[in-house]
Amino acid sequence: MVPTDTNPALVQRVIENLSSAVLLMDESLCVRFINPAAQALFAISTRQVTGQKLSAISPAGKLLERAAQQGLESGEAFTERERRLEVSVGRYITVDVAVTPLTDGDVLLELAHLDRRLRITREQHLISQNQATRHLLRGLAHEIKNPLGGLRGAAQLLERELNDVELKEYTQVIIKEADRLRTLVNGMLGPNSRPNKRKINIHEILERVRQLVEAEAPSGVTIERDYDPSIPPLMAESNQLIQATLNIVRNALQAVGEVGRITLRTRTQRQFTISDVTHKLVARIDIVDSGPGIPPEMMDRIFYPMVTSRPEGTGLGLSIAQTLVNQHGGLIECWSEPGHTVFTIWLPLERENGG
Ligand SMILES: Nc1ncnc2c1ncn2[C@@H]1O[C@H](COP(=O)(O)OP(=O)(O)O)[C@@H](O)[C@H]1O
Ligand SMILES: [Mg+2]
Repeated sequence: MVPTDTNPALVQRVIENLSSAVLLMDESLCVRFINPAAQALFAISTRQVTGQKLSAISPAGKLLERAAQQGLESGEAFTERERRLEVSVGRYITVDVAVTPLTDGDVLLELAHLDRRLRITREQHLISQNQATRHLLRGLAHEIKNPLGGLRGAAQLLERELNDVELKEYTQVIIKEADRLRTLVNGMLGPNSRPNKRKINIHEILERVRQLVEAEAPSGVTIERDYDPSIPPLMAESNQLIQATLNIVRNALQAVGEVGRITLRTRTQRQFTISDVTHKLVARIDIVDSGPGIPPEMMDRIFYPMVTSRPEGTGLGLSIAQTLVNQHGGLIECWSEPGHTVFTIWLPLERENGG
């Protein structure tokens, strides 16, 4: 009698329900088998890839084929840790790749997805950091704004009493500087109104932002679009999302300088978790630039208010953008290397979370 644990139908069921992605390649590195988790990861179907090389379909193919080749040549199983794969254009994940050469000349690849774990800790950190600084700033801003109002009012009264034009220059300095400080403090406070949500199309937002920055962009900078037209409308306040996106795109523009490329890309993703809530469908907006990138030592702080590397910068752009997107149940993440910086805005698409 066949014991149950070698029952082919049962084995099949187990493989089909594994959460790790499994691929089997033959000795010429063509795909013989791909389980559903791997199909979802690479966004491809069995039919598309069976008998084909993965590198013909996914940018990650090359790296995996190299690993498979190494397994075939050495005849030994090994694991490559924390590999960054571009599973489909612009979508990166981090995986451990276990390579097992089989006796019949095939090689088995098993990818364990690490991003979930890495991402969720990083994201909780981002959100709590944002809330803590916001709380601190509100208190501080309140303490500054009251005396500032008094100062400005007194300077105005004094100005009325003065006949000497030269002396009025001094009161003007006080008034102007008080106004500048108030604008700065209001900027630090960021948006405090709850979003007034309507049904909007994400591409209208991006097109608006694109028009605004096209006008500011030097002639050597191209702004490209790579939109997924099937993204359903979402509930959001368009002004707030325009502001958030604009802050990111302006940074990209400043980063590339006179010559470079900025890409606005949209995609959807199924089953995605943002701060403990798993959404059936989310929109992903990538703002990619070809600039020099963000120095690693600065990476952890860029979403803090007042963090800037530019002499004329306020360091408020990203902090405000993060708050605006958080208010929509979303999140901004960033990934950067020289020549390739990606800011990703995640926004939930279901109605119950969006409105
Ligand atoms: N696309 C980018 N490329 C390189 N550095 C960036 C990019 N976006 C943001 N930064 C860095 O993050 C800092 C903070 O950005 P932001 O909060 O918008 O403030 P500001 O633009 O006023 O400096 C910038 O000064 C810059 O150092
Ligand atoms: Mg900025």
